[in-house]
Amino acid sequence: MELCVHVSDLRKNYGQVRAVDGVSFGVEYGKVFGFLGPNGAGKTTTIKVLTTLVHPSSGTVRIFGKDIVKHQREIKKRIGVVLQEPSFEANLTVERALELYGLMWSVPGEKRRDRARELIEKFDLESFKSMKNDELSIGQRRRVQVAREFMHDSELLFLDEPTMGLDPAARRTLLDYVNKHVQGGLTVFFTTHIMEEAEYLCDEIAIINKGRMIATDTPAGLKQKYGGVKAIEIKLKDSTTQSVMHIIRPIAGGSVIETPAEGTIRISSTEAQEMLVKIIVSLSKNSVHIESVSVNPPTLEEVFLSVIGKQA
Ligand SMILES: Nc1ncnc2c1ncn2[C@@H]1O[C@H](COP(=O)(O)OP(=O)(O)OP(=O)(O)O)[C@@H](O)[C@H]1O
Ligand SMILES: [Mg+2]
Repeated sequence: MELCVHVSDLRKNYGQVRAVDGVSFGVEYGKVFGFLGPNGAGKTTTIKVLTTLVHPSSGTVRIFGKDIVKHQREIKKRIGVVLQEPSFEANLTVERALELYGLMWSVPGEKRRDRARELIEKFDLESFKSMKNDELSIGQRRRVQVAREFMHDSELLFLDEPTMGLDPAARRTLLDYVNKHVQGGLTVFFTTHIMEEAEYLCDEIAIINKGRMIATDTPAGLKQKYGGVKAIEIKLKDSTTQSVMHIIRPIAGGSVIETPAEGTIRISSTEAQEMLVKIIVSLSKNSVHIESVSVNPPTLEEVFLSVIGKQA
């Protein structure tokens, strides 16, 4: 089966810095591929190579089944990219910026106007569409920058932290808009530091660190593989957190104990179930009343921290 993106042993050095250090992965057509990793992991560098903005030091990248070095021009026409750094024409109004971007991509007149109208509505740009780009807030600018990329029809869209600076409503609108296009066949390569977002949008997730791929799977698969840790949460009825710590601590051993709120205790452990039973028995022996208990599966954030932590 042909992959939309097929990367083999990709390396990119900046002088002595090995920004991308032997990375291989594939992205299927019509899927959202989440590329996660800490600051400096090599995500943006990978996107720059894949979008032909910088040359790889070695390795091969095939997009739509074609080598990106040999078929650079054709590939560029079929992809869209929203880079991490802001890019806008300071003196253009939002409306004009969308219009010009459509023109740049040779979108015909009628379609261009319809598309701009649709994006202004969908991305909620109406109230500032006549303002100049450099008069906008950071989040407003980012919204325009992302909306702009939908002025033309790309088959593969690279989004490098597209929701950076967006408020929760704008973020949700953007993710849903992307999702709608994915239903229509768009393939998306996506980076974010917000794990809930990755979980919401991505079919497949790769985690990279220090230029190397350390895990790749579906969000559920990652949780199963790396999320041995579960969290117990105990809410006390009348007692203070402090008054029961001498009971909890010896049972929790070296596990992380958090107190997210007064009277609530959260413990993360690979032996959460067994620990919970011991704690309940011990608390009841000491006449401490419990309001509620729960054992929660790991979040993608916990998986991420655990995988990255093992690497450090
Ligand atoms: N133009 C450049 N010249 C030299 N080094 C660079 C350049 N661009 C990136 N690097 C280095 O390459 C490494 C990877 O950077 P990259 O921007 O790809 O990280 P990232 O995963 O996108 O991080 P972030 O989450 O902060 O956006 C870093 O160590 C960075 O300092
Ligand atoms: Mg980056």
